[in-house]
Amino acid sequence: MNTQLLNPDKDEKAYEKAAKYILAGEVVGMPTETVYGLAANALDGQAVKKIFIAKGRPQDNPLIVHIADLKQMDKLVSFIPENAKKLADAFWPGPLTIILPKAECIPIEVSAGLDTVGIRFPNHKVAQNLIKAAGVPLAAPSANLSGRPSTTTAKHVMEDLNGKIPAVLEGGACTVGVESTVISLVGDKPRLLRPGGISLEQLMEVVGEVEIDRAIKEKIGDDVRVSAPGMKYRHYAPKAPVTVVCGDANKTAEYIKQNANKTAGILCFKEYMNVFSDYKCFEMGFKDDVSSQAKRIFDALRAFDETDVTEIWTQCPSDEGLGLAVANRLKKAAGFHVINLG
Ligand code: TXA
Ligand code: MG
Repeated sequence: MNTQLLNPDKDEKAYEKAAKYILAGEVVGMPTETVYGLAANALDGQAVKKIFIAKGRPQDNPLIVHIADLKQMDKLVSFIPENAKKLADAFWPGPLTIILPKAECIPIEVSAGLDTVGIRFPNHKVAQNLIKAAGVPLAAPSANLSGRPSTTTAKHVMEDLNGKIPAVLEGGACTVGVESTVISLVGDKPRLLRPGGISLEQLMEVVGEVEIDRAIKEKIGDDVRVSAPGMKYRHYAPKAPVTVVCGDANKTAEYIKQNANKTAGILCFKEYMNVFSDYKCFEMGFKDDVSSQAKRIFDALRAFDETDVTEIWTQCPSDEGLGLAVANRLKKAAGFHVINLG
């Protein structure tokens, strides 16, 4: 199969072509503000199966359903609690996924056997236009091979999926750069399952207390049942093993310098590039600019795979704001191999 890159800026039929693939039961690469997604008709179980095949994704990991109009949610869930309305009002369209009890129409391939479904209204014109052109909600995980870092440009998607899917829609570099925040509203209290583009602090302003799932900060064994099945898998990982060093940035830079082998790759804050001039080094934006770190990390983690580094060391932002999501992705890339310098 030849994967077509469809650019809506250059081809006025781009949406029509992509929608045709979707309605024929195929999967299409789609940009969103967080990361690129691999989209199929969420109401067509056979089409959704192809997503799992293209990615090599474990079958027990459910997919998020993307909508382009609030009203679309009514048919996809069996109940909309007050907190869901508040969150949708505050953060949609945007990088937030809300887990709710699913409606009958959600195929088992989307929910992976759970009785819930994640809904998200993305804030990206190309995603919205595709959903509207297809006229159906789109199930979409991140458009990377399972286990690899997520994709934040159409070029990344091509690297992972060229030849495996009929088309990718071009939508430029993702402006958020880490995936959506996943919050579950099916239990007694709102529960954060995955930190992402909307911070915990922002969520708490709208719904008050939010429980935090264990899998966000620590490694969960394969035999343990977790709330978001995706959180237990090794993830976002480049080929070389990663070590995350947390703490004051001067101290972490010094620690890495002392402990890294000559053949190591370094991911550091921009201020520290000169410290690591002897190494293969990528920067992730300035120390205090966590939104540029979010935009940079997946590209940097992927870039190490183009090099011959034998190990990777990275600095890490604190857990405040978007930092919680960036730190989570780095720690997951490291299989939670983390050194805390306090
Ligand atoms: O930003 C994003 O969320 C991107 C873009 C494409 O929208 N999508 C994305 O999908 O990151 P994916 O499949 O790579 O990650 C979805 C996460 C997984 O950890 C999955 O286990 C969890 O959300 N999830 C999905 N549906 C769920 C459900 N019903 N209950 C619990 N967790 C769920
Ligand atoms: Mg993913």
